[in-house]
Amino acid sequence: MTVEQRKITITINGLRHSVTVEPRMLLSDMLRHELGLTGTHVGCEHGVCGACTILLDGRSARSCLTLAIQADGAEIETVEGQGTAEALGRVQQAFRDHHALQCGFCTPGFIMTITDILRNHALSGDDEIREALSGNICRCTGYEHIVAAVRELLREKDSRP
Ligand code: FES
Ligand code: FES
Repeated sequence: MTVEQRKITITINGLRHSVTVEPRMLLSDMLRHELGLTGTHVGCEHGVCGACTILLDGRSARSCLTLAIQADGAEIETVEGQGTAEALGRVQQAFRDHHALQCGFCTPGFIMTITDILRNHALSGDDEIREALSGNICRCTGYEHIVAAVRELLREKDSRP
């Protein structure tokens, strides 16, 4: 039996890729296994934990619930596009400053969710921050430091001219 293959074109962190995938391949698997972008983590594979969150055409999405072929022609952003170890992105730096991670497994998903929040949502107060983060699960941190990082990022955003 021959397995059906499809060729898709996808822009990831500003770079265009042509990838041949099976129609059943998950976007998370394509990123990790076909393109080596292992910064996108896979925890539950059921859309619950948020570890696999990426931005799909500028909005946060679960890559474990998205088929790679659904992203044909789309713009994807992953944590690899946020910064490097030598030059952290702004959200990554806020996590570092506030000790918002321990094992770091959940962190890429939080970074991408928070990037969406900062670009697309106006939040005020800790309750709204917690609500906005409620789709991401962290087993280590107790969330206080993550909320503090987001609080600072929102303050910084609000004080921009
Ligand atoms: S791995 Fe996708 S939500 Fe948990
Ligand atoms: S830092 Fe370990 S799961 Fe969140």
